[in-house]
Amino acid sequence: ASNRPLTGRKVLITAGPTHEPIDPVRYIANRSSGKQGYALAQAAVALGAETILVSGPVNLPIPPGAQMMPIETAAEMLKLVEAELPVDIAIFAAAVADWRVATAADQKIKKGTNGLPELKLAENPDILKTVATAKSKRPKLVVGFAAETQNVIDNAKAKLAKKGCDLIVANDVSADSGVMGGNRNRVHLVSADGVESWPELDKSEVARRLMEDFARRIGALT
Ligand code: C5P
Repeated sequence: ASNRPLTGRKVLITAGPTHEPIDPVRYIANRSSGKQGYALAQAAVALGAETILVSGPVNLPIPPGAQMMPIETAAEMLKLVEAELPVDIAIFAAAVADWRVATAADQKIKKGTNGLPELKLAENPDILKTVATAKSKRPKLVVGFAAETQNVIDNAKAKLAKKGCDLIVANDVSADSGVMGGNRNRVHLVSADGVESWPELDKSEVARRLMEDFARRIGALT
């Protein structure tokens, strides 16, 4: 039906932070409330999609109708994402940690006389880039997010090329924007077609409009 244009389509969304263990009680993470990703999942369900939400640790209710798959690390996120392919639309809203500790300690590191612990880091897989450049099972539409604090549009254009995705949804998360953890967002859609800047809206409204835009881009909505 026309008001549920994603009926029969599968949408995969990553959301939240990843936690990369240092030892059993400590981790490295990015700031992410998960709000925009969860709102997107809710909007995907509303449009009729089979909705998979691969989510790091957040304090949000699971959107009714979405299938939430909890993960902690980027490696776990990549594994679950790949297991869900093929999908029609893949949206990467998670704030994935760029690095993990190369070898997490299996016991709590004690404060003490041995000076400061040295953390050796290793690079995490880029989940968006891996899926966007996949030779088989590439989704019809691959969407990345770019949280920037300056040169929002230019950085988003560079990211579009570097990641190989179809669309970057860029937002300004500089300290005075109130976006981080807040309920409102102002986004710019950056694709090969150019740049479309939207007014500031509630994250739920941004999500509704984005999902309709994505449905149009795969030809499920006119
Ligand atoms: O340049 P940056 O890596 O911050 O780009 C952000 C985009 O890439 C987001 O869509 C984010 O979810 C995705 N990403 C990812 N895996 C990573 C790092 C970022 O999927 N390891």
